[in-house]
Amino acid sequence: MPDMDSFALVIFGITSNLAQKYLIQVLYDMAEREILPKEMAIIGIARRQMSPQDFQNYFHESLHLENIHHKHPIKEDVFKKLCKRLHYISGEFSDPSFYPRLKSFMSGLTKRGFHCNNRVYYLATYPDLYKSVFEGLRNSKLNRQNGGWVRLMIEKPIGHDLKSAKALNKLLLKYFNEDQIYRLDHYLGKETLQNILTFRFSNGIFEPLINKDYIDHIQITAAEDFGIGARGGYYDVVGALKDVGQNHLLQMLAFATMDAPSEFSNEAVTTRRIKILQSLVPQPKKIVFGQYKGYEQEKNVNPHSDTNTFFTLKTYINNERFKDVPIYIRAGKKLKQTVTEISIVFKNPINRLLKNLGSGDEPNVLIYRIQPNEGIVLKILTKVPGHSVKLEPEYMQFCYKINPHAHYLPDPYEHLLIDTMKGDQTFFNAAEEVEAQWAFIDPLASARSKPLLYEPGTWGPKEADKLIQKDGRQWLEPSMDFCRI
Ligand code: BG6
Repeated sequence: MPDMDSFALVIFGITSNLAQKYLIQVLYDMAEREILPKEMAIIGIARRQMSPQDFQNYFHESLHLENIHHKHPIKEDVFKKLCKRLHYISGEFSDPSFYPRLKSFMSGLTKRGFHCNNRVYYLATYPDLYKSVFEGLRNSKLNRQNGGWVRLMIEKPIGHDLKSAKALNKLLLKYFNEDQIYRLDHYLGKETLQNILTFRFSNGIFEPLINKDYIDHIQITAAEDFGIGARGGYYDVVGALKDVGQNHLLQMLAFATMDAPSEFSNEAVTTRRIKILQSLVPQPKKIVFGQYKGYEQEKNVNPHSDTNTFFTLKTYINNERFKDVPIYIRAGKKLKQTVTEISIVFKNPINRLLKNLGSGDEPNVLIYRIQPNEGIVLKILTKVPGHSVKLEPEYMQFCYKINPHAHYLPDPYEHLLIDTMKGDQTFFNAAEEVEAQWAFIDPLASARSKPLLYEPGTWGPKEADKLIQKDGRQWLEPSMDFCRI
């Protein structure tokens, strides 16, 4: 781990679901791995009054919440050390008098040896409060980079359509420079996604095949076997297309299809991602929306809701390289299994040997399995050992978890926090990138019709299958036969 500047991580909305579920968990992990800079302070802000001890208790409870993040035990000595960095100040984000208080709070911490001249502001709060936060920071000159650096981490979604995304990007630039703004989509922080770039561009043998001459089509699936849980208030307004389609799914597609960057730098990599996103062609007639049965009975959901909990769409990339290569994308909740992957399905050569034998015409498929059994695998045909010639599909595999040199797989939030500390924006969204995503999604979102109901535990409504079947293709059943965990 390179030496990193110390700084204050100022979390607006420390009691939010987001902070509790992700940030607090990775901060503990980073403390355990001793990768937090020495004089770094963690400053939590929320409305409720909490004494320093209450705040530590809140952190402690969050680390012990069931089904959140930690699979391994929390070490009390690590937690005690972490407590020395924890500070809390209560305040209303819309109250201008809060910001001078925050300023003197940080000056107090600086006097106690913490490094508050460098600051990361993390917005784990509602978008309608952003403006008050920015104004408050500016009026107290807390957005200025005097004697240190200031960076802002802001979560997806950036806006709810192209217009609002542009407005938010414009607003951000009133208070911060683009190189201070870290727009976060945690999929960009996934090790498995970042490795797609290494796989494609640090090996010479695969890339020549990634084009229309060899690829029949591309399938992308992000399926979850669980529902919306307690997030009804948020989800019912947003729906699957905007919750994950506009961001995570498009990023997956961008990594799998972007051209090679000229170098491994923020500008070069981001430019390539943007280029692909701008070349995507929305097809409002090629989208199917679904809603799982029982969704309307979920907490904080409108009992007559038209929100989509599933979508599937067909698109293509308007460039020479992928001309006429169809791309099918599907995502949703309460589906048959939890799995996220990109499958590149190759064409079969006309003269393929033994194509008339059983399985002989199965295509080769390159699978980027993002989760749960992370890996990169190539589906190939092999001869079944024996005295007659029979073929069967098998997997050539690179697996993270069963690799004998298995490495620690950092959580995406850890990745992105460290990148922010280092000042590296490669795996954050640029303003133009988010706008390209919305430009693709907007026409699809306006094509929204009443979602078709589907049974929980299936792959969504039948019409979703028909969308791909009409083209003489079908969804691949995500296999668990490789990278078994
Ligand atoms: C979030 C969405 O951005 O991503 C959730 O709001 C979704 O609805 C989650 O479940 C998926 O992330 P991951 O990392 O669990 O695949």
